Amino acid sequence: MEVVSAIPARGTTLKVNQLFIYDMTYIVNENCIKCKHTTCVEVCPVDCFYEGENMLVINPDECIDCGVCEPECPIDAIEPDTNKNTEHMALINRQMSDKWPNITKKKDPLPEAKEFNGVSGKFEKYFSDKPGSTSK
Ligand code: SF4
Ligand code: F3S
Repeated sequence: MEVVSAIPARGTTLKVNQLFIYDMTYIVNENCIKCKHTTCVEVCPVDCFYEGENMLVINPDECIDCGVCEPECPIDAIEPDTNKNTEHMALINRQMSDKWPNITKKKDPLPEAKEFNGVSGKFEKYFSDKPGSTSK
C-alpha cells in the first residue's frame, strides 16, 4: 500500500493500493489581524497558538483538530482549512508558528480591535511578521 500525505490534485486518477491521508487543521484567518482578542488560547488543550505583533496563528502539526477554539473567537477568525480559500493563511499559520512565541494566557485585545473587525484586505495592508510579546 502506498501512503501519500497530500490532497490529490484535481483530475488525479487514484491507483489501486494508494491511500491518501489528509491531515486537516484549524487556522487563524486574516480577520485576526489588528484585533487579537486571544480568547482562543485559553481553551486549546494542546497550547498550539503562537503570537505575532498583531495576530495569532495555530501550529498545524500540534493542532489536534478538536475545534473548541473556533466558537471562542468573537469575530470568526478561526476556521478549518477544509474551508474554501484558506490555502494562503494555512501557509502563514505554518510558517509563523515556527517563528513566533507560544501564547497560552488571554490578554487585552488590541485597542483598534473593534474598528478593524471585518475590514477587507487586512493581510496585504497590515500583516506584520514581527513576533508578539506574550507579556501584557
Ligand atoms: Fe487547539 Fe483544538 Fe483549536 Fe487546534 S482546534 S488550535 S487543538 S483548540
Ligand atoms: Fe484572533 Fe480570534 Fe484568537 S481575534 S487571537 S483568533 S480569539
